[in-house]
Amino acid sequence: MDKPLTRNIKPDLAPVTLAEYRRSGGYEGLKKAVTAMAPAEAVATVKEANLRGRGGAGFPTGVKWSLVPQAAGQKYVVVNADEMEPGTFKDRLLMEGDPHQLIEGIAIAAYAIGADTAYIFLRGEYTLAARRLEQALQEARDASLLGRNILGAEFHLDIHLHTSAGRYICGEETALLNSLEGKRANPRTKPPYPQTSGLWGRPTVVNNVETVCNVPHILREGADWYRGLSRSQDAGTKLFGVSGRVKKPGLWELPMGTPIRELIEDCAGGMQEGYTLRGFLPGGASTDFLLPEHLDLAMDFDSLQRAGSRLGTGTMIVLDDATCPVRIVLNLERFFTQESCGWCTPCRDGLPWVVEILEGILAGRGRPEDLDRLEKLAWLMGPGHTFCALAPGAAEPLQSALKYFREDFERYLPVSPALSLRGEEHRVPLLEGERRAAGG
Ligand SMILES: Cc1cc2nc3c(=O)[nH]c(=O)nc-3n(C[C@H](O)[C@H](O)[C@H](O)COP(=O)(O)O)c2cc1C
Ligand code: SF4
Repeated sequence: MDKPLTRNIKPDLAPVTLAEYRRSGGYEGLKKAVTAMAPAEAVATVKEANLRGRGGAGFPTGVKWSLVPQAAGQKYVVVNADEMEPGTFKDRLLMEGDPHQLIEGIAIAAYAIGADTAYIFLRGEYTLAARRLEQALQEARDASLLGRNILGAEFHLDIHLHTSAGRYICGEETALLNSLEGKRANPRTKPPYPQTSGLWGRPTVVNNVETVCNVPHILREGADWYRGLSRSQDAGTKLFGVSGRVKKPGLWELPMGTPIRELIEDCAGGMQEGYTLRGFLPGGASTDFLLPEHLDLAMDFDSLQRAGSRLGTGTMIVLDDATCPVRIVLNLERFFTQESCGWCTPCRDGLPWVVEILEGILAGRGRPEDLDRLEKLAWLMGPGHTFCALAPGAAEPLQSALKYFREDFERYLPVSPALSLRGEEHRVPLLEGERRAAGG
């Protein structure tokens, strides 16, 4: 099975040097683009390959590039390397293990849209990735793969590394642009989209690290080859991760469309001894829960959407039968509350309200109507009601937990309000797995 994204990554995770990268065909895609293709042809090849963005939304990359005006003028490529989604650690591997793959992808993207300046917006805690990227950028500059007249062509580019001060909202592409400009990281109203008015008001393409890392391979091997890597209608391979109580949590490059069962049972080795699978968040913290009955679904954008969830970042979090889904949801909603930028009311006020209700339920102060309130709040934070997708993402684990694990919420509700009025304790029935773990 061909694994273009990770084929060079070494078992000890030492970074691939420029010489090693070039020996494996590195920078051949860039050479082909700048010496034998017009920028529009490079865009057309990526479009034909049907590469979809790996940052979460799955927007077609070639289409995004083609929306940048062709007229000459200052334009930018910005790589989104913020990677703060809980449970997600895929871009880190690509940047630490094979930094030149990302640099080559950025150079091709810049050539395709006519940019001479690019930025990598990197999560602040990724200090090892920062060191390795700086080193690789210097190697590329020294080898004239960055700078003026790259590979003898009329193409000039420099790439700047910018480390974030560390907020989840900085990963939202327009908040990221504000942050790069030195402003407060609030999302911008769209339209205009960054492709026409982005960094400092200039046309800008913002792409995820994994998305950009696919580009050199597409240019070198062609669109047909790339589409053929997949097991479904979405092209290429994908980095998939599994965390939670599985035997071997980790990250694997697999064909897009690999069934979820293969990921959990074969790659991650199945559930740990004594634990049963109850559900999973397929694409990181801000996706809807799915159930064991969904195990045979293909991990791709459309299949998961049809099942009521999303591929997101493709790094799944597994829920076992000894872990209370209400507590998981509270943990996630606390994170989203802390990370809300406060720009719009449903998110700024809705999220703390969700946390307060969940804390009340877990403390035995819940009321049956609290579950309806939570449902209503999830709807209020949903798509179309906020400036950005943080709040709709936060609503996804909540709304799906209420749908699939309602009895887990109900078990905390006092059977009779009179009981709590008399100060008597409501004994919360244990989950099957909790009972087993307690030796009962
Ligand atoms: C709150 C929030 C955080 C995000 N964080 C990231 C991130 O860390 N990395 C990323 O690539 N995209 C992130 N996104 C998605 C970006 O806004 C954008 O869609 C993406 O960078 C586009 O790249 P792509 O087309 O290559 O997927 C986030 C979105 C939201 C709403
Ligand atoms: S949804 Fe939340 S994070 Fe996004 S703009 Fe509104 S307040 Fe800010």
